Amino acid sequence: MKKHIFPDFARSYWTDSVDRPTLPAYETPKSKTEVGIVGAGLTGITAAYILSKAGFKVCLLDAATVLNGTSGHTTAKITAQHGLIYHELQQHFGTEQAQQYYKANQEAKDFIESTVKKEQINCQFQEEPAFLIANDKKELEKLQLEAEAYESLGITSKWVDHPDFPFPAIAALCMDNQAMFHPVQYGLDLLEACLNNGVEVFENTRATHIEYHEHPAIVTDAGNRLFCNHIIQASHYPFYDGEAYYPIRMYADRSYLMAAKVRHPLPEGMFLHPKNPARSYRRAEINGEEHLLIGGENHKTGQSDVDMFEHIKTLAADADHYFGLEAIPYYWSAQDYVTLDKLPYVGPVSEAHPQIHVATGFRKWGMTNSANAAKLLSDLIMEKENPIATMLSPARSVKADPGYRNVISYNADVAKHLVKGKFGSVKQQISDLNKNEACVTMHNGKRIGVYKDQDENTHAVDTTCTHLGCEVAWNNAEKSWDCPCHGSRYDFKGEVLNGPAKKALSPIDL
Ligand SMILES: Cc1cc2nc3c(=O)[nH]c(=O)nc-3n(C[C@H](O)[C@H](O)[C@H](O)COP(=O)(O)OP(=O)(O)OC[C@H]3O[C@@H](n4cnc5c(N)ncnc54)[C@H](O)[C@@H]3O)c2cc1C
Ligand code: FES
Repeated sequence: MKKHIFPDFARSYWTDSVDRPTLPAYETPKSKTEVGIVGAGLTGITAAYILSKAGFKVCLLDAATVLNGTSGHTTAKITAQHGLIYHELQQHFGTEQAQQYYKANQEAKDFIESTVKKEQINCQFQEEPAFLIANDKKELEKLQLEAEAYESLGITSKWVDHPDFPFPAIAALCMDNQAMFHPVQYGLDLLEACLNNGVEVFENTRATHIEYHEHPAIVTDAGNRLFCNHIIQASHYPFYDGEAYYPIRMYADRSYLMAAKVRHPLPEGMFLHPKNPARSYRRAEINGEEHLLIGGENHKTGQSDVDMFEHIKTLAADADHYFGLEAIPYYWSAQDYVTLDKLPYVGPVSEAHPQIHVATGFRKWGMTNSANAAKLLSDLIMEKENPIATMLSPARSVKADPGYRNVISYNADVAKHLVKGKFGSVKQQISDLNKNEACVTMHNGKRIGVYKDQDENTHAVDTTCTHLGCEVAWNNAEKSWDCPCHGSRYDFKGEVLNGPAKKALSPIDL
């Protein structure tokens, strides 16, 4: 591969290519609304849109800026083809629930399409077929089982033997009439419709807690309170757990994405090779020119086996090998939560708190699942029936979960990282650091992390995660401190980028 120039910093094309509105912070000591929504990603904005159209008074808060979370760092395929899932769902939950999951996700795609038309949203929405790929005999067997599940569930599909794709594939399972779009442009236009419907939107306002009075109140980091009849936690990870043990019921999984200018374009379609290596492909228009979006290299957050930037280099090598890489205008990475039974948690956060809702665990299929969650939560608030309410309820029995055994192995993994982080040897020196490098070292008997920035300023933080005390690891692809236990992430100054942590890492004076 010829030597390619990588951008200095990770940056998502989606967030970099839009004009954002300037929105205020929530600074009222006390006020009241009907529905308080925490988190202005696609889930929160879609819920605000549906509820405000139904006449509810809605207030939407975001810890940072709107659409800058996972929704701003996704691949943005809008599809009901969620990897190899329908055979597994049918085995574990039965035909009816597997059909409901498919139907809900197909309807979510239709909802996005009709909203694009109704609100005249110019977001590169385009229908495309989705392909699942097998590349060896074992994968072929799994794909055949998936195709059989499609057949018995009534999912329309096409089987393609020896497809002529630019990357290795011996067979593919195709779901027609799926779609892709620019997720941030879609979300911003939907937000504008929300503002026109009277939704109040606040940025730079982190919710830290929920208090109980006659009505529940969202408490913000500035100590202000927003009293609500209903609260929706659309914060990707629920900042308020309701003693329902979310940290032991899901894990954060990270993937890397690259926008690449290539000589040989990707054929029509969106493609997924699910594992070993996982690769996701689609096209995206960047400054009027077609680019390849290539993604993959997933691992649990904070638990990469190799230096994190190696994942970006591997994607670049694949892009070059199969498509002829010319330039890399963007690369970035992001994470999503995976629940133990692979279905999202959408509904009351716990049985004790029916007015406080959560939507999380989309397993990297949150374009349709965010629309599903928004519709389901709006229905619950409006006391309407919804066919997927029981299936996605966070209170569904964990003992009946096929993933129940995963609770044990996942939490053993957390315990391993807790211990390894505390006692692992630390030999690096601050004096050895070059620009844009970081190390973990000892300072006054304390384990600290130090990053040297572009201007050679050093930033030191206590490496103990403020969630439950695991030790964070440096992510040199994103210049962040990532926790291997439940996926909290912090920027190089220690500020929270992703929950469950709510408090920054403590700064250290060197
Ligand atoms: C690499 C990658 C590729 C993906 N590709 C696809 C794909 O092709 N198709 C697909 O369907 N799905 C895909 N997904 C999944 C999808 O992007 C996500 O599931 C979806 O964007 C989640 O949306 P959200 O609104 O729930 O969360 P987010 O977009 O993360 O929004 C949550 C918001 O809450 C805010 N917040 C967090 N905590 C607080 C707090 N305490 N107080 C106030 N605000 C808070 C954050 O700032 C953020 O803006 C992908 C995911 C990843 C990681
Ligand atoms: S995210 Fe839970 S200990 Fe760090």
